[in-house]
Order: sequence, then structure tokens, then C-alpha cells
Amino acid sequence: NKLSLLVCGGAGYIGSHMTRMIAEAGHDVTVFDNLSTGHAEALKWGKFVQGDLRNPEDLAKLFAENSFDAVFHFSGLIVVSESVEKPFEYYDNNVTGTLNLLQAMRKHGVNKFVFSSTAAVYGEPVMEMITEDHPLKPLNPYGRTKLQVEEILQDYAVAYGLNSVCFRYFNAAGAHPDSTIGEAHSPETHLIPNILLSCIDEGRRLKIFGSDYPTPDGTCVRDYIHILDLCDAHLKAIGFMDSNKGAHSFNLGNGKGFSILDVIKSSSEVIGREIQFDYEPARAGDSPRLVADSSKAAKTLNWTPQYADLRDIIETAYRWHKNPAY
Ligand code: UFG
Repeated sequence: NKLSLLVCGGAGYIGSHMTRMIAEAGHDVTVFDNLSTGHAEALKWGKFVQGDLRNPEDLAKLFAENSFDAVFHFSGLIVVSESVEKPFEYYDNNVTGTLNLLQAMRKHGVNKFVFSSTAAVYGEPVMEMITEDHPLKPLNPYGRTKLQVEEILQDYAVAYGLNSVCFRYFNAAGAHPDSTIGEAHSPETHLIPNILLSCIDEGRRLKIFGSDYPTPDGTCVRDYIHILDLCDAHLKAIGFMDSNKGAHSFNLGNGKGFSILDVIKSSSEVIGREIQFDYEPARAGDSPRLVADSSKAAKTLNWTPQYADLRDIIETAYRWHKNPAY
């Protein structure tokens, strides 16, 4: 049946792919976004309402004028190093903003919530493959804002019957294969875009942050998951909440760890040329290794990633970065 879904942060990288997938699945979709980091050019699907989560009046108006069956929340500040320098902005947007959104939902009786959480909630890894019961000890304010919202959602499920699914993303990457939407952060901090941009823009040299991590080649190991696989799990979460009340958390990753040097090698295979780089000191707050055990999401949501090969993920990203629409 046709649903009416709200996507907060629908002008951003993950939100725009989600908005498109919802529209293509035949549901009504509304995007709420302040366009602080998102792109108006990405708003090709559904209805757009400009506003800010930190402004409860914007939310009051949004919920008064529309009726929603569920809410997806992608409006987060996401740069780990920035969160170390500007914790107020991170707690204000990511925690207070989310509280405002949940308040509007309660007031209007909307009781399904899908939240973008992160592997950064785990901190220093004590498991080879991280399951959802790994200790939650974020290494930076960014990770703490996400964990705090997860905890709030546990309390809201008990007290207010608000059902939620938190997805702890490992490293989202790639773009829609038709490359009409893609990843466009400014400044770009993510590894795959920076590798590709260093090949596309002359004079933009790739930096590797840290060479003496306790990993096989000394560079950080991450688990890369395609943006459409990520969005697919989100759509499945809506049906899941029909029959599963309460607050739930799931990892979303591919279950394979790649070092920075591995990602550079695969990118070089996709692009067909050598990639030059320099080593720089490690970034503040980076974990040496984050690799997901996503079997809980796979089993519970009947979810299987379609882009299991890192080269396929890089290839869709490369298609976008060669000729980005924004
Ligand atoms: N890196 C480089 N050079 C770059 C960019 C990144 O060496 O130009 C390194 C980073 O230091 C890190 C790895 O590549 O070791 C991956 O970095 P990303 O910035 O691509 O991703 P992160 O793992 O730091 O962060 C991402 C999301 C966060 C999320 C985290 C949790 O951006 O929001 O994954 O898995 F919290």
C-alpha cells in the first residue's frame, strides 16, 4: 500500500538516494532540508519543504500541513574531525534537532522512525567482525551524538510507543548507476571521492591519514557499502516496524575490510591508471578498523547487499565524479 514518508536531509548524499528509491517504489515522499550541506539540484523526486530541525516552528508547520506514516532522518553533521573542534554544533544539530523532530512526531501521532546511526558508536574495536553487542564507546563527539539519539530512542519506545530502527552505517560509498545523483560534500573528507577526485582534478593530491595503525599495512581498515544497498535496508525497515515494536539497531556493511591502500589499488584498477599519494599524520578520532557483521540485518530484514564487490562500488562513484551534476 501507498505510504506517505518524510525524508529529513533528503537533499544530501544518502537522503537523495533514499528519496528517489521511495518515489520509485510508488510512495509519496516529502523532503525536509535546510540546504546547509545538501543540494537543491538533488531534489528531483517528491515534494520539498525547506526548514531546519533546530527550529521547532519549521517542524510544527511541516507536520501540520502534511501527514506522514514514517520518518527517515538523515539530517546529521557527519565530519568526525569537525565534531572534535565544534562539539556544540554537533550536539545542537544531531541531538537537539532530533529531539525536536521526535517531539513533532509525538504531537502528530507518527510512530515509526528510521535513524542514520554510525559504526562510530563502537569506538576502538574489540571484535574482528563487529556485531551489534560490541561495546559502545565512541571516540569522538560525532559518534556520541549518534549514540545519544539511539539511547533516547530506547526510552521513547518504552514511554511513548515510538518504534524505531537505527542503522549503524559502516562506510557508505558509490552513487546511483545512472549518475544523476551522487556524493558531493564540500569540503570532501571521504576516502573514495578523494581518491577519484585526485585522478580527475590535476593538482589535487591524495593524502593518506596515518601509516602506523595496528593493521596489516598500517593504514585504517573500513567496510564499504553501496548507497543503494543501504537505502534498500531502510525501505525494508518500514515493513519490519509494522510487526516489530520497540527500538532496534542494525549494522549495515558488506563484512569485508579494506585498508586505504587496498581501496587505492582497486580504484586504480577501475580507472586504469596509477594513483599518487602522500602520507600525512593520522586524523583525530579515527578508529583503526571498522568491519561489520551485518547478519542481524540480513536475517531480520531479509536484506542482501547487491554491490558486494568493492570495484563495483568504486565504479558507480567514478561515473558520478567524472561528470557530477552538482
Ligand atoms: N582517508 C584518507 N584520505 C582521505 C580521506 C580519508 O586517508 O582523503 C582515510 C581516513 O583517515 C580513514 C579512511 O580513509 O582512515 C576512511 O575515511 P572516511 O572519511 O571515508 O570515512 P570514516 O571511516 O572516517 O567515516 C565514515 C563516515 C562517518 C562515520 C564513519 C563510521 O564519514 O560519518 O564512517 O564508519 F562515522
